[in-house]
Amino acid sequence: MPNGEIFSLNLIYGYLVMCGIVGYIGNRQAQPILLNSLSKLEYRGYDSCGVAVQGSAIEVYKDAVRVQELKQALPRLSGRLGIGHTRWATHGEPSQINAHPHLDCSGKIAVVHNGVISNFQRLRQQLTSEGHSLVSETDTEVIPHLIEKHYQGNIEKAVEAALGELEGSYAIVVLVAGEPKVIVARKDCPLIIGVGDGENFVASDVPAILDYTNRVIYLEEGDIGVITKDSIKITRGKIRVDRQEHRISWSREDVQKASYEHFMLKEIHEQPKAIRDTLGEYVLSTEPLIDLGLILDPNLEDLSILACGTSYHAGLIGKYVIEELLGIPVRVELASEFNHCRRTIPSTATIVLTQSGETADVLTAMKKLLEAGIRTLVITNVPGSTASRVADQTVYIKAGPEVSVAATKTFIAQLMMLYQLALSHPGVNRRICERLFAELRQLPAKVQQVLDNEHQIVDCARYLSEYDDVFFIGRGINLPIALEGALKLKEISYIHAEGYAAGELKHGPFALLDRDTPVIAIVAHDNTYGAMLTNIKEVKARKSPVIALADEADEVIGQLADLVIRVPCVSSIFSPVVNAVALQLLAYYTARCRGCPIDFPRNLAKSVTVE
Ligand code: BG6
Repeated sequence: MPNGEIFSLNLIYGYLVMCGIVGYIGNRQAQPILLNSLSKLEYRGYDSCGVAVQGSAIEVYKDAVRVQELKQALPRLSGRLGIGHTRWATHGEPSQINAHPHLDCSGKIAVVHNGVISNFQRLRQQLTSEGHSLVSETDTEVIPHLIEKHYQGNIEKAVEAALGELEGSYAIVVLVAGEPKVIVARKDCPLIIGVGDGENFVASDVPAILDYTNRVIYLEEGDIGVITKDSIKITRGKIRVDRQEHRISWSREDVQKASYEHFMLKEIHEQPKAIRDTLGEYVLSTEPLIDLGLILDPNLEDLSILACGTSYHAGLIGKYVIEELLGIPVRVELASEFNHCRRTIPSTATIVLTQSGETADVLTAMKKLLEAGIRTLVITNVPGSTASRVADQTVYIKAGPEVSVAATKTFIAQLMMLYQLALSHPGVNRRICERLFAELRQLPAKVQQVLDNEHQIVDCARYLSEYDDVFFIGRGINLPIALEGALKLKEISYIHAEGYAAGELKHGPFALLDRDTPVIAIVAHDNTYGAMLTNIKEVKARKSPVIALADEADEVIGQLADLVIRVPCVSSIFSPVVNAVALQLLAYYTARCRGCPIDFPRNLAKSVTVE
């Protein structure tokens, strides 16, 4: 169900923006609800935050602190409607003045915003020349002043007129003194309404509202919503539109840490369940939701896979699996490169991998594919996400909400989906298919074995945490795991890590090897085994310490490597699964030894919603 209307992406170069915005209107005190919802969105940005509550007047409190600190500093603000924001600084450094909400001159209009207003400089000069005093360095601050400028007694009309002057991307919530409503609008940034009884919620993402409701309305591009405690009115282009209400299957527990110190460790430990749930939908259930055998066209000649970050690494493994089992050539593309560098669009069909379904680079690429008439199959984790509503076909992985910025369980669930897609294709030899499906069903137990032996990884992590430069090497289907292992270590421990094809070390990186540069070698029992052992000897000859990842049956590796992390024996086509989980744990415990903010690493965020 391609829907061109979903796309009006403006390409905004060089700005990264992922903030979390919330709103509440109802009979309860707004303050605690706003703060609780904001704390669930910190994976979208966490360098400053603020709230505005409407009592007799609008009271704003904001600062360059985390939500927890704001909560401690905040006086009690009385009021039953309010808005809130947790920021990811783009225009203007993290500071109290640049934090949201922003106000107009009268202090009667407060706005929180996610996105980038690309023409803000011009609007700012115009507003200043008209007597408005803007105090921050942000692009957002022009919005409340534009609404003030257009206000002639009808706030909805004023908001519409203000939006008409904006260029760029936005999801906004507007709070106005004396008005028993909040006004919301979205363009290129996600925004949802949480439907309650006698109360309603607004948020950038589902985890923020799950403590209060699982009834959600997804705003579409260009929608404007006027929300009171008892009503939701949505218009687009001044015409009233109905938006479907969805029931979210995720529970509030899913977005809580339970007894774990970090979301990342919880999500790593949820992987056996994520595998079972993702397999359950399509392979294990007697009534599969979608017959995966029909997904990949039987006459497919070639295929593209498109993604970013960790999803891209899953795509690289998908390439191996599909080429290995089906002999169909697969091209894996980085969405950001595809958008700016690819002139011709080669393939007949494209698989788009995006756990959040909101990554802007991916959405921009999907627009290009749509315009070129290329069929897109999206594999995503988030029902109702923009990608899922744009694609020709969507299949969902069932990893549950992933809060930690570093992707773990969604990566493993993406692999499960790619295995299933390939194995369900009629072109696969039936006997091989049955054998591999049988082993696929064993994977939850194999992954549980890795988790049960995490103590061996804790020791290696303590050792690794002393170093600042690390190489990961692998071959064949485990080269993407070397890339992913390095990415995980980079993301959360701030160690400079590089994933490299083992055979390529001698063409350059050897120059960097010494006692202070450990090498983590992924040694799988497949046709690359001998070559990997040779590479390890070459690395040892250059004095680099070696941590080897090898299966429990390997009797040789212990004589070559300084430390060995053992994983259960599986067929080489599935070895990326157990190896990835072991390297996730290695990165986690290394970052923990170094005291890093594991769930909210600096300069990163869970989904990058603008190019
Ligand atoms: C980054 C996340 O922002 O986006 C990564 O920090 C993720 O973990 C990447 O892999 C791609 O995200 P998605 O949602 O498109 O898979």
